[in-house]
Amino acid sequence: VSGPNIRKVTVLGAGLMGHGIAQVCAQTAGYDVTLLDVKQEFVDRGMSMIRDSLAKFVAKGGLEKGKADEILSRIHPTLDLRAAVEKSQLVIEAATEDPKLKLDLYRKVSEHLPPDAILASNTSSISITLLGSATKNPENVVGMHFFNPPQLMPLIEVIRGAKTSDATVEAVRVAAKQMGKETVLCKKDSPGFIVNRILLPALTEAALLVSEGVATPEDIDKAVTLGLSWPMGPLKLLDYVGLDTALGISEVFMQEFQDSKYRPSPLIRQMVRAGLLGRKSGKGFYEWGSPSSTKSSSGK
Ligand code: 3HC
Repeated sequence: VSGPNIRKVTVLGAGLMGHGIAQVCAQTAGYDVTLLDVKQEFVDRGMSMIRDSLAKFVAKGGLEKGKADEILSRIHPTLDLRAAVEKSQLVIEAATEDPKLKLDLYRKVSEHLPPDAILASNTSSISITLLGSATKNPENVVGMHFFNPPQLMPLIEVIRGAKTSDATVEAVRVAAKQMGKETVLCKKDSPGFIVNRILLPALTEAALLVSEGVATPEDIDKAVTLGLSWPMGPLKLLDYVGLDTALGISEVFMQEFQDSKYRPSPLIRQMVRAGLLGRKSGKGFYEWGSPSSTKSSSGK
């Protein structure tokens, strides 16, 4: 694959998405990866999720143990943002879906990022143009939206912000190919891009069916898996991606589109308040057992 010579990549956020993105960068693209978070326990948990996932590939026979160790040795956990960012050709941000937190992070990263390095966001719904506005080189800021679990899902949505250059778009499409992913291009920076614009209203409706007492969560999921051939029903998927993440996306939709059809489900809001976030907290619409191995605190 031709394109920019990406060797060193930093992933910001070691949570549910960040750890998987770091793994794909090291495992499939062969990049040297730095995985950064704000607390040691978060990077430790991210590394432990990567170890678990690599062990699954080894157990399935798709990866040799020696190769898994080699992949792991290419992923360097750190808390030092400056040291990580200033040597990278590509930084992929997978921090919590909070606009204020992200803007602060982009300002900080921009201070240390080489002027020709690319800053890609895995945001699910926040404006790439807005994130770019917090940096010195908005032409190098782009959306690179992965799907959960990044190790298995074959798509990356590439999103062009108002100032993103053609060269940046091309560079991340090449990088995505090196990661073994297919891409689609969102020509405009529109909330939720393609997939979440379609998915979130469906997830909200599923939660409304529960709160209206129309059917049980189990039957709603059974209906959609058997009736529509989704690999997971919408309520299990809500648990899987995190109710807090889904609520965050609905809130951005409400604010950006100013259209009540995107109003978040009150049940999801209530569950988030109660800490019932799904897989990451151990309980959501379903029981998931101990939260320790999959919980993400600072990262998505
Ligand atoms: N790493 C490595 N292997 C993994 C893995 C991981 N993180 N997670 C699962 N696997 C492997 C398992 O070992 C298993 O292997 P096997 O078939 O050889 O035994 C295989 O994948 C299937 O896993 P499971 O048996 O645990 O469960 P499923 O059969 O249900 O598959 C799934 C899991 C691939 C996640 C599937 O259920 C699925 O595709 N679900 C839908 C996911 C989806 O829609 N994602 C998009 C969410 S939206 C999003 O991310 C956008 C955001 O902005 C909100």
